[in-house]
Amino acid sequence: MILVTGGAGFIGSNFILGWLSKYSEPVINLDKLTYAGNLQNLSSLENNEKLVFIQGDIGDTRRVRSLLQEYRPRAIINFAAESHVDRSIHGPEAFIQTNVNGTFHLLEETRNYWTELPQREKDSFRFLHISTDEVYGSLEEHDPAFSETTAYAPNSPYSASKAASDHLVRAYHHTYGLPVLTTNCSNNYGPLQFPEKLIPLVILNALRGQPLPIYGDGKNIRDWLYVGDHCSAICTVLENGKTGEVYNIGGNSEKTNLEVVQTICSILDELQPADHPYSDQITFIADRPGHDRRYAINADKIKSELGWSPAESFESGIRKTIEWYLSNNDWIKNVTSGAYRNWIDQNYSTRVNT
Ligand code: NAD
Ligand code: DAU
Repeated sequence: MILVTGGAGFIGSNFILGWLSKYSEPVINLDKLTYAGNLQNLSSLENNEKLVFIQGDIGDTRRVRSLLQEYRPRAIINFAAESHVDRSIHGPEAFIQTNVNGTFHLLEETRNYWTELPQREKDSFRFLHISTDEVYGSLEEHDPAFSETTAYAPNSPYSASKAASDHLVRAYHHTYGLPVLTTNCSNNYGPLQFPEKLIPLVILNALRGQPLPIYGDGKNIRDWLYVGDHCSAICTVLENGKTGEVYNIGGNSEKTNLEVVQTICSILDELQPADHPYSDQITFIADRPGHDRRYAINADKIKSELGWSPAESFESGIRKTIEWYLSNNDWIKNVTSGAYRNWIDQNYSTRVNT
């Protein structure tokens, strides 16, 4: 079986749903259930005996030790993290706790478990660490895209904490020989994404007649990847990646934030017309402090060495995503309850419209 951490979050739950639809190999999901963890994401697997859920912290060494001994996974895929840049600006401590200390404790327990495995299992064991392109910092308009050899230059508490975790993972391979793999991926979007991130936030605000908040001038660029494509890349790296290696994953879909928001507006105009174009709701507000200007991923390595490339274009993926949000009102109602509203107040009420 495999152990997935953070499997109740956006990408982790998409990964588990995809995995169990393709393979019969069971999954253990270790998740702390922070505000971002939602077991409703996995409700379609409620009676599936191939999925075991354990509520717990990756930094809880006793719990991790006992579950490794009990379930003896052949691989660990570490999705668990605090993942929202704006939250890391308001309160960085949780990011250090989970992304740095948590990953460290998980690595230590994994090393102890792996060291004791019989040789054959030891050789085939994998620890796959899910990371981000944000560790590479920010690009200017004409800079070449991030490759696996781009120097780390993280700019936010979030990206700095992810960079620290990447370095620990690397060091556990170099020093102890732990068979690790690291993936650095660009911005994901798709079903089940918590609506604090740009795309689901804009879809929900549009439908509720609320402002569509664009930080700064809206010309910051991200490289967007449909979550199902990220999950297929992770399966490819898990099965065929070379231990100790890093693989960048991207969607070849660089867009300004304004382009993304305008695309969402025009698809909503078609699928759920209002009495005005949704783009009338676009509002420019004060910028994110330290806002990275551009991310772009060079995904040549994973394509040429492992044969992976994305199946969705931005145009097909964003339409599927909007259709999913339009048909999942219960999910939306549940995730936008009290705690969510507190966050929206905290992040947006003090930003002046520009
Ligand atoms: P998310 O915030 O939606 O989910 C994170 C999950 O981790 C939640 O279920 C949460 O409960 C759990 N968690 C948090 N702290 C934990 C802890 N200490 N112990 C156990 N579980 C804990 O995040 P996501 O968007 O699904 O991102 C998953 C991973 O992918 C993260 O490592 C993130 O850095 C990385 N990543 C995300 C993106 C993106 O665009 N969302 C892109 C590249 C990389
Ligand atoms: O690049 C990968 C990263 O992508 C992941 O590592 C992170 O976990 C994930 O959250 C994401 O980070 P971003 O900061 O790029 O994503 P977010 O959706 O928060 O913002 C996308 C862009 O939109 C960014 O330039 C900020 C801008 N933005 C965001 C919000 C929430 C706005 O203009 N308005 C908003 O209200």
